[in-house]
Amino acid sequence: MKRLKIKEVLKGELVGQQVLVKGWVRTKRGSKNVNFIALNDGSTINNLQVVADVEKFGEDFLKDINTSASLGITGDLVASQGSGQLVELNATEIVIYGKADPEKYPIQPKKHSLEFLRENAHLRFRTATFSAVFRIRHAMAFAIHQYFNNRGFVYLHTPLITGSDAEGAGQMFRVTTLDPKNPPLLEDGKIDYSQDFFGKSTNLTVSGQLEGELGATALGEIYTFGPTFRAENSNTARHLAEFWMIEPEMAFYELQDNMDLAEDFLKSLIKYALDNCMDDLEFLSKRLQEEEKNKPMDERSMELIEKLRFVLENDFIRLPYTEAIEVLKNSNHYKKNKFQYPVDWGTDLQSEHERYLVEKHFKKPVILINYPKEIKAFYMKQNQDGKTVAAMDVLFPGIGEIIGGSQREEDLDKLVTRMNEMGVPAHEMEWYLDTRRFGTVPHAGFGLGFERLLLFVTGMGNIRDVIAFPRTPKNAEF
Ligand code: 4AD
Ligand code: MG
Repeated sequence: MKRLKIKEVLKGELVGQQVLVKGWVRTKRGSKNVNFIALNDGSTINNLQVVADVEKFGEDFLKDINTSASLGITGDLVASQGSGQLVELNATEIVIYGKADPEKYPIQPKKHSLEFLRENAHLRFRTATFSAVFRIRHAMAFAIHQYFNNRGFVYLHTPLITGSDAEGAGQMFRVTTLDPKNPPLLEDGKIDYSQDFFGKSTNLTVSGQLEGELGATALGEIYTFGPTFRAENSNTARHLAEFWMIEPEMAFYELQDNMDLAEDFLKSLIKYALDNCMDDLEFLSKRLQEEEKNKPMDERSMELIEKLRFVLENDFIRLPYTEAIEVLKNSNHYKKNKFQYPVDWGTDLQSEHERYLVEKHFKKPVILINYPKEIKAFYMKQNQDGKTVAAMDVLFPGIGEIIGGSQREEDLDKLVTRMNEMGVPAHEMEWYLDTRRFGTVPHAGFGLGFERLLLFVTGMGNIRDVIAFPRTPKNAEF
């Protein structure tokens, strides 16, 4: 018999028929006469209730059916007598693929802390919470490709190993095959990277943007979607050392077009989640509300689905950095010295400032534009005022920065001057500068942090819980 997915079976259309399902036991409870097995195969948050007759299967056989054991079950699908489910399966045949010793299996059918599950990340997919998170993660990845494909963007695979530092941030992981104990040295004592694998010093990429620009200035509109690496030592709930980033880059786009695309893109992803992931969202929403019960009223966040709809239905605020500084300085929060970090024109906004603007002041997502050039990357388009660049950061409630992007400087001389001012080695990036030498065009793009998006959509509080195997300082387990 052909195996069916539990998601299909639960629709109830097959009542009266024999079906075969395969999956893992979530829970088993029993009486003298029957055992009830909640079976899950990952296709949906919902379990299939299986009814196993004790006399038929024997107590000896049924005692091996514990949480996380894997089973194949054939049975008659019937309308359920109990409440809580539409159908249930009366088992006629049960195959145990693998037992799971209940004394040793670390994840018990009870509520575990997220910290505990992080330490058991290899098994946490088997919990309802993480199965929901990873189904949504998949759905969002699919929706991203669909969004760009529908608009004629070309998916460009940019390299993970690079010789350049795209963000000029200098927080990169080195890639080398040299012997760390005995590297070849130059006369001045520095390491001789000409003898390294690539004949030069190389790193894991912090962004695919620079290569993305090469693609966009010929293919028109491209996007990248891949792993990104940052060796910044920020042990926060919003930073990973290895995260996934989506970077669209568009020829002939200016800052305004870039903002329009970013807003439409985010809204369309949220809409996709609401249209396609409702079971998982409802589960996560309940989970979140349970957690929020312990928080004081004014710290509780909006109900998850309501929050997603709210973002979908409202225009994002668009505001120059300079005006944001004014808003912050005029706030009671500032006057009462409640910000930990200073608010001064020219300094980068901290997460507390971003969240104040979004959560307390505007109560909507905010796109901040035209940042001081000193705090932004060399490639951003220099504005007429000589002080700011055409940057844009999209700030989300509960998250802070979810997107960073800009219009790019398309003028060769201005770009090279800025590179020299910022100590970016222009001579090593002739390939990049060629885009400005031959048929340069206005162009723009942005980077969406995939896990930051998932934090928002799932309502999870820690970025380590929306990527399967998180890499953070002092942690590369699994
Ligand atoms: O603002 P960032 O550094 O921008 C860039 O890398 C540009 N090259 C993007 C572009 O214009 N093509 O990073 C973009 C986004 C951030 O807004 C944030 O969502 C995410 O990437 N991000 C991180 N996510 C998780 N962990 C980290 N350590 C992150 N650093 C950035
Ligand atoms: Mg940024």
